[in-house]
Formats: sequence, C-alpha cells, structure tokens
Amino acid sequence: MPKNLPENTTLAIVLAAGKGTRMESELPKVLVPVAGRPMIRYVIDAIHSAGVGRILVVVGYRAELVRAELSTEPKIEFAEQHEQLGTGHAVMMCRDQLSQHQGPVLIVAGDSPLLQAESISRLLENFSAADCDCVIGTVDKENPIGYGRIVRNQAGEFVGIVEEKDASPDQRELCEVNVSTYLFDSQALLFALNQLTDENAQKEYYITDCPAVLFAAGKRVMAEKVLQPCESMSINNRDELALVEAAIQSMSPSN
Ligand code: UD1
Ligand code: MG
Repeated sequence: MPKNLPENTTLAIVLAAGKGTRMESELPKVLVPVAGRPMIRYVIDAIHSAGVGRILVVVGYRAELVRAELSTEPKIEFAEQHEQLGTGHAVMMCRDQLSQHQGPVLIVAGDSPLLQAESISRLLENFSAADCDCVIGTVDKENPIGYGRIVRNQAGEFVGIVEEKDASPDQRELCEVNVSTYLFDSQALLFALNQLTDENAQKEYYITDCPAVLFAAGKRVMAEKVLQPCESMSINNRDELALVEAAIQSMSPSN
C-alpha cells in the first residue's frame, strides 16, 4: 500500500469505557454480544477493513474484560478512562498519543456495530479533499429521538451538534443526526479538547462540542451526509440491541 494514503496516517480512537447502564448487563456495553460477537468486534473490523492500522481503544468500566477480548487483535493500543465523565473526557485520555500524532484522527463509538468500512473511506476522502479540520459523518433519521442533532445556519453550513437533553423544542425537530463518527486533524482536536466544559444538562464533557469549538474559532468544519441509514443504529438498550441484531442477521451472506 502506498505510504501517502490517508488511512495510513490515521489514528482511530474507539470509545469503549462506558458501563452501558441502560443495557442491564454485567458486561461493559461494548462486550455485549450481537449475533454472537461482542459489539466492539464489528467496529474494529470496519476500521481494519478501511485500512486504518493504528487503533486506540478507550477502556474504563471493567477495562480488563475489554482488554482481554481484544488481546488477540493486531495493532491495538489502550487508553484508560477511570471515571466516565463523558465522550469528550474519554478522548482527553488520549492526549499523549494525540500530541505525538500528525494526521487525521477517526473517532467512533464502540456501541455502533453497523459502522461500515466504506463510510470510513468516504469520510477520509472528504477530509483529504477539503483540507479541513473536522468532518462529521451524518444521516437523516426518521425518528431522531435520543440522538445529537446537527445544527446548520441559513447558508447550510455546520454550526454545532446539540444533544437531545440540551436541545430546544425547535432543535428537537431536526432530523439530521450525529452518529459519533468523526474525523479531526489531531492538533485541531487537541485545541478543541482544551476548550471543553461540562456546562450542559448531563454535566459531562461532550466530544460533540469539539466541532462547534473549531467552527467558532474559524476552522473548517463540515458535516457530510455520507453514512448509510443502518449506521444510525447504535445500541443503548435491549430494544436497540434486538433491532441491530436483526439488521446484522439480514445482511449476513448466509441469508
Ligand atoms: C452519543 C453522542 C450523540 C450521538 C449518539 C449516537 C455525545 C455527547 N453524544 O450519545 O450525539 O447521537 O452517541 O452515536 O457524545 N463512552 C466512554 N466514556 C464516557 C462516556 C461514553 O468511553 O465517559 C463511550 C461508551 O462506552 C459508548 C460511546 O462512548 O461506546 C457513546 O456513549 P453513549 O453514552 O452511548 O452516548 P450516547 O448517549 O449514545
Ligand atoms: Mg450510544
């Protein structure tokens, strides 16, 4: 593979430290099986298939189980988030690796096993072609309840992501959602992480605030509807687990 492909210089961060309280399981959420495999394995496979070699997994709740599950995977490193203070805080735990990295940083959530390798590749193409500091992969969702909404200005430019719990009634009407699939320039990401606060409804440091911080600082940020509808299905509770499982089973070649 030639050296200058964007995937060769990309560092992937997988957010996997949460307990997943709504799953009512003893296991950390990312290890709950989906069609027989821990959900994080699908995410790791998609990242590998897109050609991204270096993967940093943020572990926290029952970290030893997640480390053990991934011990046979090549090229995986771990960062520890001892207290789960939010998705932005999870990425802050990767500061050392980020400060030594020049190039794109892909951030994805370990609870989204329908992430597709092609979408990662498409986002990387957009990122390189537009020479920007952040690209967010988005999708329109018929029922966007529970998801971060993409807020745009009258010119259609990305302005920010607002979480369901922080959204105004008008913002809750928006159907373009964030599915936790982002590319950042590593140095821009460090800049944005340093500005995050936990002044929001959940008192958490949100990774979803980083793109808005960059936009407000005059950096180039884009939200692109490049994801497949199925990729908007993440797993936060037993009902969503059943839906994702059915989707994976219907996609499997044996069907
Ligand atoms: C997140 C996004 C939301 C998006 C949704 C679906 C934020 C603030 N919100 O919400 O905009 O629509 O995903 O993609 O990011 N995690 C950690 N450490 C923490 C908290 C979470 O590692 O301190 C991990 C979890 O293990 C999980 C992932 O991050 O794999 C997402 O966390 P989750 O609590 O499911 O976020 P959502 O509420 O779904
Ligand atoms: Mg989630």
